[in-house]
Amino acid sequence: MNPNELRDGFLDFFAQRGHTVCPSDSLAPENDPSLLFTPAGMNQFKDMYMGVGNRPYTRAATSQKCLRMPDLDRVGTTASHHTFFEMLGNFSFGDYFKKEAIAWSIEYLVGLLGMDFKTFCVSVYEDDDEAADLWLAQGIPSEKLYRFGEKSNFWPAEAPSRGPNGVCGPCSEIHVDLGGGCGRPGCDPECDCGRFVEVWNLVFTQFLRKDGGVLEPLPKKNIDTGMGFERLLRVLEGVPSNFDTTLFKPIVQNVAGLARKEYGVLRQDDVRIKRIADHVRGAVFCISDGVTPSNENQGYVVRKILRRAILDGHNLGIEGHFLHRLVAPVVEIMGDPYPVVREQRKRITGEILREEEKFFETFLQGSSRLESMMAEMEKKGRKVLEGRSAFLLHDTFGFPLDLTVRIVEEKGWMVDREGFDSEMEAQRARARAGSIIATEIFDMGPLTRLSGTVPATEFVGYGSHECQGHVLAILTKDGLSDSAATGTSASLILDRTPFYAEAGGQVGDRGTISSDTFAFAVEKTTRERDFYLHTGVVTEGTAMKGTAVEAWLAVPSREAVQRHHTATHLLHWALRKVLGSHVEQAGSLVEASRLRFDFSHPAAVTADQIKEVQKLVNEKIRSNLPVEDQVLPLDEAKKMGAMALFGEKYGDQVRVVSIASPETGGTSFELCGGTHVGRTGDIGGFRIVGEESVAAGIRRIEAITSSALESFIDMRLDLLKETAALLKTQTELIPQAVRETQKQFKELKKEIARLKEKEAAGSLDSILSRGTDLGDGRLFFTGRVDGLGTKELKKLIDKVRARRKEPFAIILISKDEDRANVVAAVDDPLLKSGVAPAGDICRFLGQKLDGGGGGRPGMAQGQGKALGDLDRFLDEALEEAIKNLSN
Ligand code: SER
Repeated sequence: MNPNELRDGFLDFFAQRGHTVCPSDSLAPENDPSLLFTPAGMNQFKDMYMGVGNRPYTRAATSQKCLRMPDLDRVGTTASHHTFFEMLGNFSFGDYFKKEAIAWSIEYLVGLLGMDFKTFCVSVYEDDDEAADLWLAQGIPSEKLYRFGEKSNFWPAEAPSRGPNGVCGPCSEIHVDLGGGCGRPGCDPECDCGRFVEVWNLVFTQFLRKDGGVLEPLPKKNIDTGMGFERLLRVLEGVPSNFDTTLFKPIVQNVAGLARKEYGVLRQDDVRIKRIADHVRGAVFCISDGVTPSNENQGYVVRKILRRAILDGHNLGIEGHFLHRLVAPVVEIMGDPYPVVREQRKRITGEILREEEKFFETFLQGSSRLESMMAEMEKKGRKVLEGRSAFLLHDTFGFPLDLTVRIVEEKGWMVDREGFDSEMEAQRARARAGSIIATEIFDMGPLTRLSGTVPATEFVGYGSHECQGHVLAILTKDGLSDSAATGTSASLILDRTPFYAEAGGQVGDRGTISSDTFAFAVEKTTRERDFYLHTGVVTEGTAMKGTAVEAWLAVPSREAVQRHHTATHLLHWALRKVLGSHVEQAGSLVEASRLRFDFSHPAAVTADQIKEVQKLVNEKIRSNLPVEDQVLPLDEAKKMGAMALFGEKYGDQVRVVSIASPETGGTSFELCGGTHVGRTGDIGGFRIVGEESVAAGIRRIEAITSSALESFIDMRLDLLKETAALLKTQTELIPQAVRETQKQFKELKKEIARLKEKEAAGSLDSILSRGTDLGDGRLFFTGRVDGLGTKELKKLIDKVRARRKEPFAIILISKDEDRANVVAAVDDPLLKSGVAPAGDICRFLGQKLDGGGGGRPGMAQGQGKALGDLDRFLDEALEEAIKNLSN
């Protein structure tokens, strides 16, 4: 049975028993502010358990996408821990209870799946006799029936003594005994030796917990079951871990292939491979549910798991960006049950690639700094990374502490965490004192507190560049604050703003917020939940909550951004026209100085196609078409052919940006929240400056418009002018002048080679005239011939050989630009009489030269950069070479 049949079979089984099969809820529940991610199947039915829901059914079954972070560190090290996993569940809301839930679980596992009943053992909550009796009646032998406390057999765990308040109940777990394990006499399902696998948790949701641990029976009793899909599959397939099931194996094999490692050989490698496989699935599903990597809330979790996976890849020796390449195998496996991942494959790939690019930059800079810090400490004989170093990595390179800890601990070092904490505290104190700090990451606390008390920010920036408003909240590194003094980095939240917040690829606006009492320079604008965060520095006075302010954005830069944004729409349209309608946007960045556009296309875009695209865009610019926006119902917009991008979540009403109207055979018609020029003529000109591949089937184009284009052309023309001046010719004649220069250069090189050879032949005479006589006609030659590489030195030795019949030894040294080259040859009879082998001679000289050397006994070479006293080195080498001479 393949995974899809297993999943469908479960849902069918319960559908046949009167259950409504509901789709999986989003991984990022929109209507539940108490949770970052959906942790269990019952989550979407919370209202029913609380008795406030109103649904046309009282029985439901789902296969729910879940994400849990508490076990993050165990992922990959055990057979069954995951971040992302699927949970099969059947639910009763005041309908059936323990009897049916227990009977059906056995009917499903044994009757439908054919599992061996004898391998089952079951646990119940310590005083749940009702459940115990039902299991015994099912035929579970009493020695295989365990009673455990609230830690194992209550859901949520330990709810009676620790909370939370709310619906809860005793639970009963079905375990499969795989045999083996630790072999202890008392080994039971609570032992984590691997002998028992918990497959199904049946929760009897029958209480409402209140303050003080009071468990009030619910008027209607409920059932909430959860079965780990991956574990079930693992038991059915009889493989050692979830990662070896058909659900994971292709991903695992792909990772191993990228790392050029064999899975199943080294535990350390396997852990990393498994972790990558787990994390990429988690990221794919989060992104497909609209959570993109960021520094806040859910986005931060996605960033964290992506970065951990990237780091694992790096540690496995995978070079370059790789993680986005694993989206394809995940989609291959999960695309049928969850078509959304297939539909959004390109966007997900693009998001992961961008995250890889970002992290790579941070990582490269941070890790080389970390290496030098560790080298410094090693000199002092300590294998502890100082707190202040870890802090510097965090503060300057954005290296999260857990990342530093992981890298350092893998090398057997430790991080002084206390030192790190005290540096963090010192930084907070500095911030309080008004010094400038970089505010990047706000934890989720302050914004969560604002939700519900502060209204959503009203955006007025489509029509105007400035507006009046009030400061509703101030966020600093320390959280919410009533004021921020001069020099403080902060984020201001206003009731209204003209500032566009970074979204859909368009960068956020910069500008100024000021009042009679303070001025604040906005460096960037982002959006978190319903709030626009104007992040920057207080430049004058003290920013105070409640103050009436004027906000105005930096118009030139906003206008430059708009030109690039409208140009992006035209580019998208032109690419589809020239390359075909398979072209779809996979990512976009719109800045004041350039635009970057990623799109699906299987091959490189040819130079002619680029020219054609450029021509089409420029024609539309010259036509000076109006750019219009309107808000329409989503269905209507889609019917009119508007391109929905990014697989984004759109509301019922969407903004559509059109360039010429569709009725008149329009050009471009896209769903877009960004800001645009009024007419295409405002773009002022367009040029593609780069085209490359960023992932399999995804190309990237970089282009510029208007003033950026002007500077680009100016720079190129200046370059040409300068080149012409250097070549002493006119601009138009540069290619001809370069060709001539190249020809002369080639001839000169030939001439130099000829001269060198002639000179070397002369040197050869003098070298051969003063060999050291080792007796019996054996001669040892040494000589210096500057300007030659090792290859040429070897040729010179060939010449000696051609001129001499008798055996000899020779060392030649040459100073060639910034290095010295050495070649030595020792003929057999001399080797026999004790002359050092050529390899040893070259090694000796290589060391003297602060470089290296070696080779065969008869012929060897070396080189180095210490150009001091080459003649003396030569004498010393000779002395060394013949010190064991036996005559
Ligand atoms: N809510 C329970 C769990 O998550 C059963 O679905 O284990």
